[in-house]
Amino acid sequence: MHWYILGAGAIGCLCAELLHNSGAEVTFVLRNQTQLDSFNQAGRQVRFHDADTSSSINVDASLPGDHATINHLLVTTKAYDTLPALSSIQHRLAPDAQIVLLQNGCGQQQEVTRLYFSLQVWAGITTHGAWRDAPFSIIRAGKGHISIGPMGKPQPALPNGWDMLTPPVIAEPNIENALWRKLAINCAINPLTALHGCRNGELLTDPKLTEQMLSICEEIEQIAHARGHKLFASSLFHAVSEIAQLTGDNFSSMLQDLRQGRQTEIEQITGFLCREASTLGMQVPHNQRLLDQIRTLQSRHDIKGEGCE
Ligand code: PAF
Repeated sequence: MHWYILGAGAIGCLCAELLHNSGAEVTFVLRNQTQLDSFNQAGRQVRFHDADTSSSINVDASLPGDHATINHLLVTTKAYDTLPALSSIQHRLAPDAQIVLLQNGCGQQQEVTRLYFSLQVWAGITTHGAWRDAPFSIIRAGKGHISIGPMGKPQPALPNGWDMLTPPVIAEPNIENALWRKLAINCAINPLTALHGCRNGELLTDPKLTEQMLSICEEIEQIAHARGHKLFASSLFHAVSEIAQLTGDNFSSMLQDLRQGRQTEIEQITGFLCREASTLGMQVPHNQRLLDQIRTLQSRHDIKGEGCE
């Protein structure tokens, strides 16, 4: 089995390791020659570290313009890069290629299923914690799991070879619901922490932020319910509070993106929620305000957004 990976960030590298360890051949599709040069400088290796251990794997790399056919593709790019990245390798995709989208946010999974209707598409979420301290060098920050489920047409529960991964990948028959749960958590934590420049835990210790988080959660829950998604056994506010507590010392991915001058995934997170609300003819004023505020912050820093709606 040969899996290509688009997106060599922390999650792409972690998945490269899981696939490599399962016996699959793994090739990164790197963005351009500069990224390929940096991979060559890293000895064509990905390195992993945690407090006690370090390890490395050797993987191959190719560029979008190469010609080898791709039958199996994992996409771990930022959500907003999905369609441009896929279109850069469209000429290489086999007509019935298997493709797994493992990313934050919502909307891009449905778009890929609609635009690439001959492909077999799975979407997934992961709770693995990892971050990149240098190109192709990953710090493990907590063991989690990956859940994958088919999008669109009927197809096997897992793509080829993914039943061989350790720890086992969870086959999630209702992946849309799982994507909504992850989206709801990201909507509740990420924009607020990004705007206030605070750690996740401060959403629970600052009463004003906690009150805002409650209003945000209530709106998200209304839209999810209107779309037929029951999110958690408890209220969303309760579930989000637990996660904010567990990840109390962390800076959210959106705050990290802003601090590093990178485009955030706000359009695929809160932007998606606001678009869903507008389709349903419902109002989400607290979330809409967050969306507007993050867009303003991005434009002040001259970070390009997608300008949805
Ligand atoms: O995106 C993130 O930062 C995380 O998924 C979480 C848990 C929402 C906040 O750290």
